[in-house]
Amino acid sequence: MSLLVCETVTKRFGALAAVEGLSFEVAPGQVLGIGGPNGAGKTTLFDVVSGLQPVTSGRVVLDGIDITKATADRICHLGLARTFQLNAGFDSMSGRENVQVAAYFGRRNRLFPGLRLGREAIRCTEEALELVGMRERAETPVEGAPVLDRKLLMIAGALVTDPKILLMDEPVGGLTASEIDEVESVVARVVREKQLTVVLIEHVMRFLMRLSDRVMIMHHGAKLFEGLPREVSEDPEVIEVYLGKSAKARKDSWFGEKTVAKTQT
Ligand SMILES: Nc1ncnc2c1ncn2[C@@H]1O[C@H](COP(=O)(O)OP(=O)(O)OP(=O)(O)O)[C@@H](O)[C@H]1O
Ligand SMILES: [Mg+2]
Repeated sequence: MSLLVCETVTKRFGALAAVEGLSFEVAPGQVLGIGGPNGAGKTTLFDVVSGLQPVTSGRVVLDGIDITKATADRICHLGLARTFQLNAGFDSMSGRENVQVAAYFGRRNRLFPGLRLGREAIRCTEEALELVGMRERAETPVEGAPVLDRKLLMIAGALVTDPKILLMDEPVGGLTASEIDEVESVVARVVREKQLTVVLIEHVMRFLMRLSDRVMIMHHGAKLFEGLPREVSEDPEVIEVYLGKSAKARKDSWFGEKTVAKTQT
């Protein structure tokens, strides 16, 4: 059974259909990469799946449970976590405190928040910081932290909620080549160690191609292409609207030597 199912999902903002009749499924343990031009509707898709925006029509099912109308906190507690395209965090708090907040509120309902974090939240926070390699750099207030650290902290904050599926929106946007490699290693490690199912949006093709089992390219809110990473640069429509004619020549640099170890189902 698929872990995440989207059936003819549509999201309109007035006359604009940001996502239109989009259907796809993600199997447990799979990494689905999403690409597509600016404004294609990628972030909006994450917003409706994660409950930040209500869908206009269609259906979203997580691990057999219909979450179409569920609130964002309920969806998080059911096992779907996400990161954001723009760095999100409580700026005056340290990286560690940010992840602790996610650990405290993201794992279960807190109708009457207490004054103490509890041993479990502290333990999970340290585990998540370790997994993304941020344990030694987590004391700085996030407003002053480098972009790479903020990106890694967002991933830690999502992981600490113990998700079944993790949605990442441009996890390497704005990073240097070596920083991109570092995030790639982190994501590969997380997929391998946690057997996590992942959906990731990215414009950096090398990152997207090397981590993904399958790739979906969106355009005008709809699916333009879905298939194996190696097939993407062969598709005439994808070349036309997104990758450009040089895609075939660049393809070899996307895959490279370093193969990413992952658990396949
Ligand atoms: N809250 C909103 N209100 C009105 N229009 C919106 C809203 N959010 C997104 N849009 C519009 O929906 C379309 C899809 O935007 P979206 O941010 O999902 O694209 P994207 O594929 O993530 O692009 P990018 O690659 O630049 O991040 C755009 O035309 C955008 O202007
Ligand atoms: Mg976006």
